[in-house]
Amino acid sequence: MTGSTDVFEIMATTRSMRRLKPDPVPDDMIRKILEAGLGAANGGNTQKWRFLVLKEPTRKKAVQVWYKKAFDEWVGPRYASSPPPPGSDPARFARQHGAVEYLTDHYHEAPVWIVACLEDGPNPDRSQGASIYPAVQNMLLAIRALGLGSTLTTRHLRFEKETEAALGLPPNVHSYAILPIGWPMGKFGPTGRGKLSEFVYLDNWGEAYPAVSEG
Ligand SMILES: Cc1cc2nc3c(=O)[nH]c(=O)nc-3n(C[C@H](O)[C@H](O)[C@H](O)COP(=O)(O)O)c2cc1C
Repeated sequence: MTGSTDVFEIMATTRSMRRLKPDPVPDDMIRKILEAGLGAANGGNTQKWRFLVLKEPTRKKAVQVWYKKAFDEWVGPRYASSPPPPGSDPARFARQHGAVEYLTDHYHEAPVWIVACLEDGPNPDRSQGASIYPAVQNMLLAIRALGLGSTLTTRHLRFEKETEAALGLPPNVHSYAILPIGWPMGKFGPTGRGKLSEFVYLDNWGEAYPAVSEG
């Protein structure tokens, strides 16, 4: 466990945990995580969300092959040519890149995946994601609070058709995120972000909000 259920502390330390042990995760924990997801907001309370809990290794491996192909063709080169983001530095960014590559190779070895889906029909539009990502974030916070690790992943969508076929989703259902869940190898730590003052304005676009000038 984490020693804390303070929501602000949990939010400040829910960072991507990409190195996971293959040890099993009890079903009662998965149930708690899913219940946290179901507590989230969703448009019109229509609850078109569906959650595929995936433990079966063959299906996970079939998706990992596409996840890795997307790394080789797209994510890897992008990381190699990008500067560190706000709140990071070259060393930290290099560690992140190493962890991303590790998860790429070991994606399917996470003992449980939760595939967050929407029954969104044949032609979903961009706004529909707003009805599943609040549930995804609730689940990430619950995972963290239970002392488990995960990462919000969407890279499989680069090969959406292939991965959704591998996942066995029906045609009226689409996946929006895969959460690989397991016991973390490393320690939890603070998320690395830029200062509030870099992102927040008051009244007029570009105008500083003095209340956040220190943070
Ligand atoms: C929309 C979205 C998609 C993401 N997809 C992936 C992914 O496919 N693979 C991955 O390793 N991380 C993925 N991430 C995690 C981000 O890379 C991560 O949150 C970011 O680098 C900040 O790091 P932190 O979570 O450790 O603070 C995704 C995050 C978001 C919000």
